Amino acid sequence: MSDPKTFFLDEEEIPFEEGQTIIQAALSAGKFIPHLCYHPEFKPHGSCKLCTVRIDSRTVTTEDGQSVKIPGRAAASCTTPAQEGQHVESEVPEILDLRRTLVQMLLVEGNHYCPSCEKSGKCMLQGLAYDLGVMDPHFPQYFSKREVDASHPDVLLDFNRCILCELCVRASAEVDKKNVFALSGRGNTKHLICNSESGKLGDTNLAATDKAANVCPVGVILHKRHGFEVPYGQRRFDIAPISDNPVQYAPV
Ligand code: FES
Repeated sequence: MSDPKTFFLDEEEIPFEEGQTIIQAALSAGKFIPHLCYHPEFKPHGSCKLCTVRIDSRTVTTEDGQSVKIPGRAAASCTTPAQEGQHVESEVPEILDLRRTLVQMLLVEGNHYCPSCEKSGKCMLQGLAYDLGVMDPHFPQYFSKREVDASHPDVLLDFNRCILCELCVRASAEVDKKNVFALSGRGNTKHLICNSESGKLGDTNLAATDKAANVCPVGVILHKRHGFEVPYGQRRFDIAPISDNPVQYAPV
């Protein structure tokens, strides 16, 4: 049997199977790469860019003997196939800064009030913000005006927290085969919608057991009568940082 192929992630050798992306191989090897729109059960989407890494930077020596680093290309690790011998940088200052900026932009674009959100402590956006050391929003708050849809008997939608990852859209289409959710609009008017004549969730055939109702990484799709069942301080990212939990990262 031939040796497994490997690449290097922050100088650590990572085995991979043909066809695996960088993030798939990294997570399988227990190495966390931040992500929001990636989910192992769905086709990669490549929209949030939290998983950006730098590939194959190199150092050259100039005529006067100086070492100069030529940055490699930046790429989303969820859509980039792993390749033999590749050198991938993830936990480096430039990439960590980029991820912090992306998280800050997401935090100001929506209305994320963590202290009152029942997803606090198990929200991937909040978990990544803590992990990346985001201490403030940096950008002015956008204060987008968004509704809450409480029309469904079992599931509540709080659009204020949507990060447009499309996990619910993909889950509803690919797993549930219901197409309950979609994105509508462009640019800063892009938003999540429900596919029913009234536009209300209560007029769709979503069930609380559907994949789409259980895949939201933030606090948009919430189950009624279950909020705060696990108290703050005892939730998954209260107990261990998101980066300590590279494989069981799927939202709960
Ligand atoms: Fe790769 Fe979102 S996780 S772009």
